Amino acid sequence: MSEIIKKPRGTVDYFYDDASVLISIKNKLLSLAERYGFSFCTVPTFEESRLFHRSVGESSDIVRKETFDLINKGDRSYTLRPEFTASINRAVIENKFFSSPSLPLKFSYFDKAFRYERPQTGRYREFHQFGVEIIDEKIDLSSQVETLLLAIDACKMILGDIEVKAKINFLGSVTSRDNYKKALYSFFADKIQYMCEDCKRRLETNPLRILDCKVDEDRKFIQDAPKITDYLTEEDREEFDQIKKLLLKLNVSFQVDDNLVRGLDYYTGFVFELYSDEKLGALAGGGKYSSLMKELGGPEFEGIGFSIGIERLILSLIGKGSLDYKKSLDYFVIDLRKNGDGLIIAKKLRDKGYKVSLPSFSRSMKGAIKMADRENAKNVIIVDSDMTYKLKDMSTREQKDITFEEILGL
Ligand code: HAM
Repeated sequence: MSEIIKKPRGTVDYFYDDASVLISIKNKLLSLAERYGFSFCTVPTFEESRLFHRSVGESSDIVRKETFDLINKGDRSYTLRPEFTASINRAVIENKFFSSPSLPLKFSYFDKAFRYERPQTGRYREFHQFGVEIIDEKIDLSSQVETLLLAIDACKMILGDIEVKAKINFLGSVTSRDNYKKALYSFFADKIQYMCEDCKRRLETNPLRILDCKVDEDRKFIQDAPKITDYLTEEDREEFDQIKKLLLKLNVSFQVDDNLVRGLDYYTGFVFELYSDEKLGALAGGGKYSSLMKELGGPEFEGIGFSIGIERLILSLIGKGSLDYKKSLDYFVIDLRKNGDGLIIAKKLRDKGYKVSLPSFSRSMKGAIKMADRENAKNVIIVDSDMTYKLKDMSTREQKDITFEEILGL
């Protein structure tokens, strides 16, 4: 017998209820984004590798070890997208959307991203992200606050009463970040020999990322590290204060976390992460980026955005929340004539917008009714072999005769 081929590690099959949950979340989130004025977009599943090297950053774990690089075809190297921000900024530059008279540009997306991570709960190699990006000459206070509001709203819309915590921080302009990096470098220089291999590497590539280390023994050094807030410019500090004030005014609760640095290199100002169950990692992450567009060859525009990990959202829901995702049918048409008359009725009802399905001809009447129940059909139409029609209300189980004309009028 041939060996059964299994799905690759870190990927997920979505069928039945799982698939219904996924599609329901997708529809809800995209329509929420539409209510906030975002237009849906899709970008290629793969891009030139150098796009992610330049944007996500050479020092990020994503680019260093987590990208799915495709076997070279011709002289170009391609990578499956590990996220969307880079691709959307690339598309804005390539299509010159930045010259649009209606700024800011506001895009939403829901699709798959790929990272070669060690699979575990909440961490996959292929996963879905919903997110948005706002791109403008200058990202103002309202866009920053609105982005966080939408991220929280989106999680709450799906999670209902489950608590969603927002952690925020301010990474500052390129200059203040460089000063801070220098301070971190000197602070960790004599401690790094006792720290993990990743931190040793991070000290040289991007000392900021040391703050993100999850190794317990390293956390005790990190606790006493200099804080970014001490390295912010007056202007940065003022901006962060205004953001916090506005969030308080809008009744958004948040926690300032000095160690929140984000795993991608392009952030320059306000950053945030959302959590429900800390064990799953962040539900969502985002922030402002001021030099990405320029680094990708575009104008000096700024951007802000976030992405929510859909699988983590679903995991947070399991056993706690509920989604009204139960598949249902308006009509289940049982064709005892087995001559296609049932198909004609199904087609006419579908044309009117009803959800309609049919069992196979080989199913007995009893088996077909059981199937109608399993499929949550509200009504069954029996196309009887004596050339009559019957309508059965599946909630009351009442059955009555109905004519073909009456069926057309349903
Ligand atoms: P990120 O923090 O890398 O940010 O990812 C955002 C979210 O995607 C995470 O909070 C997590 O829920 C989910 N996620 C990430 N990796 C995995 C994985 N391996 N398995 C399952 N879920 C995962 C970004 O991607 C940025 N592009 C966000 C952004 C948009 N910043 C500005 N604009």
